[in-house]
Amino acid sequence: MSDPTEELSNKTFVARLANVYLSILALFCFKLFVKISLNLLTYLYIVRGNRKEAARISAEFYDYGQKHRSWADRSPLHDAASQGRLLALKTLISQGHSVNVLTIDHVTPLHEACVGDHVACARALIDAGANVNASTIDGVTPLFNACTVGSVVCTEILLENGAKPQSIAYHPSPIHEATSKGHYGCVEALLTWGADVDMDIPHLGTALYTACVCQELECARKLLREGASVQKGKYLDSPLHAAAEKDCTAVVKLLLDFGADINARNTEFQRPVDVAPPSSLTEGFLLIYEVTPRRLSQLCRQCIRSCVGRDRLHLLSHLRLPNRLRNYLQYQ
Ligand SMILES: *[C@@H]1O[C@H](CO)[C@@H](O)[C@H](O)[C@H]1NC(C)=O
Repeated sequence: MSDPTEELSNKTFVARLANVYLSILALFCFKLFVKISLNLLTYLYIVRGNRKEAARISAEFYDYGQKHRSWADRSPLHDAASQGRLLALKTLISQGHSVNVLTIDHVTPLHEACVGDHVACARALIDAGANVNASTIDGVTPLFNACTVGSVVCTEILLENGAKPQSIAYHPSPIHEATSKGHYGCVEALLTWGADVDMDIPHLGTALYTACVCQELECARKLLREGASVQKGKYLDSPLHAAAEKDCTAVVKLLLDFGADINARNTEFQRPVDVAPPSSLTEGFLLIYEVTPRRLSQLCRQCIRSCVGRDRLHLLSHLRLPNRLRNYLQYQ
């Protein structure tokens, strides 16, 4: 026969043991609950409260295809420069971050500042010694980026600080880029700082040809005034061929005014009038132009300009001639 007191103490012991396990389980459940709520809160904060930022981060992270740059290897300087945060940028520079830090694709913070048209950031980077001639693995320079977005001030700052105004062959060309997008101010700055107005890129042709293809009248006019050869296009295609093909009468008129050859033949042995859309305005204009004698004043102007030569055209404004005559010579 067992002792009743012993049985009782056994029972309480078992009960206590069960209580301990129960407490541990309760504690564990509580901790789990806290963890889940915290995660949920974080999730809600990121997704709901800061949706824009989340979108930006994911867009940058997945945007491999277009810009070929990975988000992961950008430095804080790249971020500050691309967002135009001048104060953050200056702080980082003063903390000793290198301004010429590169991503895998050799993108520098200056590239970022220029493509975002962040003038103050670009200036701060250059003042701190950023390389204005830095080139990505695709040959893109900060100057090219400034021309892409049409940032005249960034273009000028770069050129003033010694950036080379034109790329080497087969690399993305700032003047072609600015022309194709109609960024007149950038074209003007590039030419002022000595970009070759007749630079010919095998797959693009000259900048004038690009202007005709893209129907950028003002850029075409600027290039021609600065002495671009009116006949140089892409291979045998002349600028006039390109303008006629696009049925852009305004550009066609401009080119003819500068003495474009109406009888030039392209690789298919076609003249500009042959590549103009049938019965278009441009075709009609060219047909009439063919049978109209040139004005003597126009022929004289072309003759004088070719005698002066491309490199001395800017001196025309110093000639001691009546204003009207001087302006006429300069197509103004
Ligand atoms: C940039 O490159 C050009 C041409 O190679 C050179 O003349 C110029 O000094 C360079 N600029 C700087 C700041 O290194």
